[in-house]
Amino acid sequence: MAKKFYIETFGCQMNALDSEKIAGNLCCNAMEPAESPFEADVVLLNTCSVRDRAVQKVYARLGEFRRYKKMRGDVVVGVLGCMAQLEGEKILKRAPYVDIIAGPQKSHAIYALVERSRPSGGARIDLRSDDESGPPIEDGPTRRENPWRAGVTVSEGCSRSCTYCVVPKTRGKERIRSSRNILREIEKLAAEGYVEIMLLGQTVNSYLDREGGNVDFAELLWRAAQVEGIERIRFTSPHPSDFTRDLLDVMVSCPRVCNHIHLPVQSGSTKILRAMRRGYTREDYLEIVQKIVNAPRDISISTDIIVGFPGESERDFEDTLTLMETVRYDSAFSFKYSPRPNTEALDIDGAVPDEEKSRRLTVLQQRQREIQSRINQTYMGRILEVFVDGRARSRVSLTGRTGNNKIVNFDGPETLIGSFARVRITGFGPNSLKGSWLHEQGLE
Ligand code: 5AD
Ligand code: SF4
Repeated sequence: MAKKFYIETFGCQMNALDSEKIAGNLCCNAMEPAESPFEADVVLLNTCSVRDRAVQKVYARLGEFRRYKKMRGDVVVGVLGCMAQLEGEKILKRAPYVDIIAGPQKSHAIYALVERSRPSGGARIDLRSDDESGPPIEDGPTRRENPWRAGVTVSEGCSRSCTYCVVPKTRGKERIRSSRNILREIEKLAAEGYVEIMLLGQTVNSYLDREGGNVDFAELLWRAAQVEGIERIRFTSPHPSDFTRDLLDVMVSCPRVCNHIHLPVQSGSTKILRAMRRGYTREDYLEIVQKIVNAPRDISISTDIIVGFPGESERDFEDTLTLMETVRYDSAFSFKYSPRPNTEALDIDGAVPDEEKSRRLTVLQQRQREIQSRINQTYMGRILEVFVDGRARSRVSLTGRTGNNKIVNFDGPETLIGSFARVRITGFGPNSLKGSWLHEQGLE
């Protein structure tokens, strides 16, 4: 009987794609996915280390597998991804029953590790060394979760040096994929029936394929938008410092490029941005936003924000709040600063107490919810084109997304799943819109 595997994914969209590559690698070797970890012979946690909480979550989950491992000694437990790269053998101190530890970039090598692993016979460890940052895997097998939407690797790793961030340590320096291969993969995906592509990279817009004729990110995006069959193209995450006029022009002129940009700001205070080594000031960022707002296409903007970075005063925090009000983000992911190993921010004075970080986060999230409600209210009565993903969490209605990334829930037949629907907006909340499906074109 074929061996079964189960992968649990933590963290970002690159991790989700890595899990699909790992699944591809295992399926290519005659393994099969299991419905639950407790039906699997191999349980893999593909982990994140961006904040301490992500790491602790993995340890907690590993604790739950301790009992399973006691019951079934032959099951293989693996810890993969960023947290594995960061913690390495330390994982064995807290979870000595782990059989595999492998960093990101090892997606194609997981089966070999599984094969060599001997449950309870010592862990197999495969981590990237500091000088080993090979090119991204160009054409590995990928077992995708979603039949319509596909992530495509543009680059791996990050060559920036934000002082709070552990990613350059876990994923290494930036390596780009050739534009030829990226486009070839998108063409293949289109032929297989995928309609939405998400171009992925830590700083996706720093892309430059010198050998392929100096294709930069704007050019890559434009070429991707020409691929027949692909209806929507998104990308994440661009870095503000690499945001160019050309990129904006492509977003404006290619209707298939979604009218949404996730533009992480991290802080609204120039002093803190400098301490974070982000490479732009508050004013620089606002200037970019102004260009986006002035562009002849309605483009929604979302962001990431960190509160309580060392040295963040009440005034700096106020600067973040006023920036949020100025930009009026369509959505924002916000986090308490989490000190990470081997990052420069550890040496910065002025730690903000945890209670104060929590307070700031609550204030910020409350403000953001109000902003989102106000924005979403303006959608009342509008007719939107929604790509229908599936059933909403309530299971009662369908759920989908607009090009500018609004979640829309509405009643309709299951047959709409996987296609576009026109929906009139009849209700709103801070996080989603409600609507009614327009069965026939031209009902308005
Ligand atoms: N603490 C809190 N948030 C962090 N992020 C990255 N590093 C840290 C950290 N040390 C956030 C940033 C980034 C997002 C993916 O996670 O906002 O954009
Ligand atoms: Fe993704 Fe960063 Fe978490 Fe790694 S550490 S999984 S790159 S968010």
